[in-house]
Amino acid sequence: MTKSPPVIAVDGPAAAGKGTLARCLAESLNLPYLDTGLLYRAVGRRMLDERLDPASQSGEQLALSLRPDDLKRTDLRTPDVDRAASLVARDQAVRQALVHIQRAFAAERGGVLDGRDIGTVIFPDADVKLYITASARTRAERRYMQMAGTETETNRDAAISEVEAALIERDRADATRAAAPLRMADDAVRIETDNLNAGQVLAEAIRIVKSVLDAK
Ligand code: DC
Repeated sequence: MTKSPPVIAVDGPAAAGKGTLARCLAESLNLPYLDTGLLYRAVGRRMLDERLDPASQSGEQLALSLRPDDLKRTDLRTPDVDRAASLVARDQAVRQALVHIQRAFAAERGGVLDGRDIGTVIFPDADVKLYITASARTRAERRYMQMAGTETETNRDAAISEVEAALIERDRADATRAAAPLRMADDAVRIETDNLNAGQVLAEAIRIVKSVLDAK
């Protein structure tokens, strides 16, 4: 019997390293990769462009009319889009409008999808579910490094604390919203990445994926 290509869910809080892991995992396993956060970011971006309030719960039509090019925009990772995406992600109508895109993405060739609700809502029957996490401080340090701060050493701690506060606030919003809050699926395998580099996280994830798929 030939098995269909697997669907692998990679969930967890912001800046835990999900994106890097999911991309590398997809490459190693030769599966398509989708960063589902980009869908919410693209809707948030268009709401800002059209001077709509991201908290106004009026993004459904924009979500339904998303095009692949919307996900390729280079201005989806700014702090204002971080906030707008987190707000539009609370809207159940927006979430519903994006379900189909996500399921269709992996329908034929499987895939690795990273997000917040992949293993709980989008693919509750995913072949493998990973939950990637790290302390807020570690995540803030990583995000700070990505932003390639130009601050002097004295400002570094303050800058990291500021990033940490924003991450904690976004975690709180993502985990306490009524619609598909961030939570670990009961059958997910958790990887704590505080003391692991990207290569070690990938190796651990590949080991887990192989053992879960072999056991099927
Ligand atoms: O992963 P990210 O930071 O790019 O996600 C942007 C926002 O979208 C974040 O506030 C959480 C939300 N999101 C979500 O609610 N569900 C997903 N599957 C992916 C992202």
